Formats: sequence, structure tokens, C-alpha cells
Amino acid sequence: MKTRLGVLLGLLILPLTSSAASLKPGHDAVASAQPFATKAGMQVLAEGGNAFDAAVAVSAALAVVEPYSSGIGGGGFWLLHDAKTGKDVMVDGREYAPAAATATMYQDKNGNVIPGASLNGPLSAGIPGEVAALAYINRHYGKLSLAQDLAPAIKLARDGFPLDRMFHAMLQSREQKLKQWPAAWKVFYLDGQVPPSGYVLKQPNLARTLELIARHGPAAFYTGKLAEEMVNAVRANGGIWSLADLRDYQVKLRAPLSGEYRGMRIVTVSPPSSGGIVMLEALNILSGYDLAADSALMQKHLIIEAMRFAYRDRAEYLGDPDFVKMPLARLLSPYYAAGLRTAILPDRATPSSDLAPVTAEAPESRHTTSIAVMDKDGDMVGATFTVNFRFGSGFMPPHTGVILNDEMDDFVSKPGVPNGFGLVGNSANAIAPHKRPLSSMMPTFLYTKRGLAILGTPGGSRIISMVLLGTLDYFNGGDAQSIVSIPRYHMQYLPDTVFYEPGAFTKDEITGLEKMGYTLRETHPYGNMQSITWDYRTGKVRAAADPRDVGTAEVQ
Ligand code: DON
Repeated sequence: MKTRLGVLLGLLILPLTSSAASLKPGHDAVASAQPFATKAGMQVLAEGGNAFDAAVAVSAALAVVEPYSSGIGGGGFWLLHDAKTGKDVMVDGREYAPAAATATMYQDKNGNVIPGASLNGPLSAGIPGEVAALAYINRHYGKLSLAQDLAPAIKLARDGFPLDRMFHAMLQSREQKLKQWPAAWKVFYLDGQVPPSGYVLKQPNLARTLELIARHGPAAFYTGKLAEEMVNAVRANGGIWSLADLRDYQVKLRAPLSGEYRGMRIVTVSPPSSGGIVMLEALNILSGYDLAADSALMQKHLIIEAMRFAYRDRAEYLGDPDFVKMPLARLLSPYYAAGLRTAILPDRATPSSDLAPVTAEAPESRHTTSIAVMDKDGDMVGATFTVNFRFGSGFMPPHTGVILNDEMDDFVSKPGVPNGFGLVGNSANAIAPHKRPLSSMMPTFLYTKRGLAILGTPGGSRIISMVLLGTLDYFNGGDAQSIVSIPRYHMQYLPDTVFYEPGAFTKDEITGLEKMGYTLRETHPYGNMQSITWDYRTGKVRAAADPRDVGTAEVQ
């Protein structure tokens, strides 16, 4: 249990910078949510590319083989570690709102949020960032040309690939949505039917779009004929994009967040992702306890309480750092965490209703994607990127093959009204021209004396609790396989309910937690985590894809 000494020890341990600069892993490794994308990364590595080339290849391939999760009509965050300089960089390729967007654009005349308006069709689409991010990474960090990095994706789009059970299930679940948008419908449905598993899906328009980008660079996407086609189609279907929105889009290079938990250094993404702040706040709370000395029940109680307090601050304070002032230093201060610890009782759940209400129910579903890549020299990429909900907005500008995102739903359409993930917020995350919506996506690097880990996952607001549990697993001696496999549980302040996968709690723990006052709800398995770990002592590089899904990991 917590002691004053525990608090002090937590603060006194200095951050480690143990990237083992002189060591090299000597292996290439890729983990992604789809076997063809993992292979694309390994192929580019075998051709002499580095981890950055491979990350571009995997990301682009996922746009083809997993378009329900991510794509060049979407965006995300790529966290890079450059072994040569030892530097970590965050490439923010998050979408931004079109210039014509307004804070109340999804409300009707009476100020009511129009159901689905921020989720369906081109009005729900932000200006995509993925092409700019991939081109940036290739240009500044890669060894191969953009055309070489995109080649596997182009081949997969042109020649096709057999649909797996996940793709099949996604098409089944999205039939009604995609039926509204003829270009997408034609690409993904065979004579108006969900094609069977094993059907070879070809996407010639997407192949052409990727070829244009490969040949002419990102300008082929953000300006010229393709941009005109996208803007015209968006506007003809109720959207508000302009050519200037596309032309002016830029990736942002941001300093990643760096934190420390009992000697483990954590490097993760900063706003406009909320993930890093929330996880580091939770870890700061937990670092005041000697969890290893506590019972399993007490550990889970403290971790759930740390989640509750940290998630509470998410909706209140966080948004695009270029638009809002955030009290980040306070949220990440060990003294702030120490104050929160005093509110955590050793034997009782804190009712969330005792705290100011900020969030509501957060349904989880599978879309969005994470990758982990490492090369022989120790360059690393962790990335999470998305079109938001399954197949994004569902809208595909004709002839482009590009599914547009529905990322605008990550903004607050109206204070207090939950978005598709049940998250609410306030003006910090209100819609404004060229502002980036608040995200939970958080690719993360962990550095300890023992070695290092790359991890990340989709899962909406549950991303943060999943990465937190993976981080604690690594701290406790886990490797890539256990990080992606361990049963998960989640608390996000409101609803005041702990969601858990089968196996996350023993029978006794369930009884114990209920006695403390927790409301527990078992859910189906969730998340799709990818991870790579490297053990400095044994030299072992392990890569693992989440066993809950169809992804694969390879080490060479
Ligand atoms: O940026 C975000 O937080 C969301 N657009 C991510 C969506 C997601 O993870 C969906 N996954 N199941």
C-alpha cells in the first residue's frame, strides 16, 4: 500500500535514457493487424529499407488490405525513434477540420445535435493527413524512394488479395452505410452482395491514386486533378472541403511526451492525442504505490482508480495544442498525482459522481490500426492511424478508390453531448477551422534497463487503458507476446463501470471488487494491439500481434 516513503521513492528515481545507444538489435521486426501488411514491411526491409521505409510500406499496405481501419483518406500519429541520433519524434498526421467548419455545424436550428451528421458522408470528413505523414517520413528518414515504399501497397491494390474473415465481417456490418455511397459500394460489394471470404478484392482506382503519389509525391494528392476530384465530389454530396484546405494541409512535428514510472522511461504522443497525458497521469498516481507488494485485488483496485482520475481530466482540458492552452505541466506533475492519491481509499471504489462529470458511455468496436516496426540498427516506429469508424464516412470520391474518414466526430459537436465513443468534452475540443480533433491514439515506446518495447492499439477511449495495462505488464517483466495477450479491463470515469474481458479478474477478485463498491461488466474481447520488445541482455527481439484478431508479426 501507499506510504509516504513510497511517494518519495516514486519521485526520486530519475528518468533513464537507456536506448542502449551502442547496442543494435540485429533483427528486423514488424507487427501489424494484417498479414499482407506485415509482409509488405518485411519485403521493404529485405530490399534495404530501414524501419521508417517499412513503416511507410506497412501503413500504405494497410490502406489497401484494411480500409475499414485506416487509409490515405484518414490520418494518425507516427512515433519515430532514430537510432543514429537517439531522438524520438512524433509525426502528427492527424486530420484537420475544413476552413468552413464551425463549432455548431452538426447542430440543427434548435441547437440539437443531428444524429449521425458527424459520422456519415463527406460532411463528417476531416482533411486527410496520412499521405503527408508517409511522404514526410520517407523523405526525412527513409533510405528508399517513396515509390519503393509504396510498391507493395500498389501491387496489393492492383492485383488484389483474398478477403479474410475480419474483412468479411466488416463488410457485413457496414452494408447499410456503404450502400448509400455508390463508389465505395461498387468497390467492396460483389454484384451488391458481401463477397465471400477468400474472394480476391482488386482496387484499381486506389492503385492508380497510390501510383500517382508514388510518381509525383504528396502534391499529387493535395493539389491538382486528384484534389479537384475529391473536393468536387465532397461538395456535390453535402461536404465543405475546399482546394485550399487540401493545399494548406501540413504534418506537424511535435515533441513526444516523456515520462517515468519507477525507473522505466516512457515516450509517447502528446496532444492532439489525449493518450499520453492520461496514461502518464495514471502512472504518476500509481508510482506512489508499491504495487508489487500488494495483493492482486489491491493492484487492480489502484489501477482502476488511477484510470478513473486520469480519464476525468481528459475531457475537461485537452484539445489541439495549436488552439487551446492546456495545464499540461500541472496534469503531469508528481505533486498533482500525490494530491489525487489522497482521494483514493484503500478499501473502496470512489464513486465517479463525487467528481465533476465530464464523460459518458464509450462503446468500443474494432477499427483503426496500430503497427510496430524495428530494424537491425534499432530504428523504431510505433504508429496508430485511422479513418475513425469502420470504413470512416463511407464516402469514396468516384475514381479515387479513397475512403474518406469521419474524424470530425472526434470533436465535440456540442458541450455535454457524447460523440460516437460516448466521449463528451468542452470548448477545448470544439470544432474550429483547421483545428485537429482530440484523439486517444497513442503509439508508445518504453525504455528500461532490461530492454525496450514498442506498443499501440486501436479501441477508441479504451486505447489508453489498454496501453497502460501493456506498459505495466512490460514493467513487470512481460514481453511482446504477453503485452498483446493479457486480459484487459477498463474504467474511464463515466460511466462508473469497470468493463473487463473474460479472464481479466478471478472469481475472488470480482467478489472483492464488488464488495468495494465497483460495478463490473464483462465485455467481449476488445483491442488489436501490436508490440515489439528487445531484451538487451539476451539479444532477443520479439514481435507479436494481438491474438484477438488476424494480424501477424515477423522477426528476421
Ligand atoms: O483518434 C481517436 O481516438 C479515434 N478516432 C480512434 C478510433 C478507434 O480507435 C476505433 N477503434 N476501435
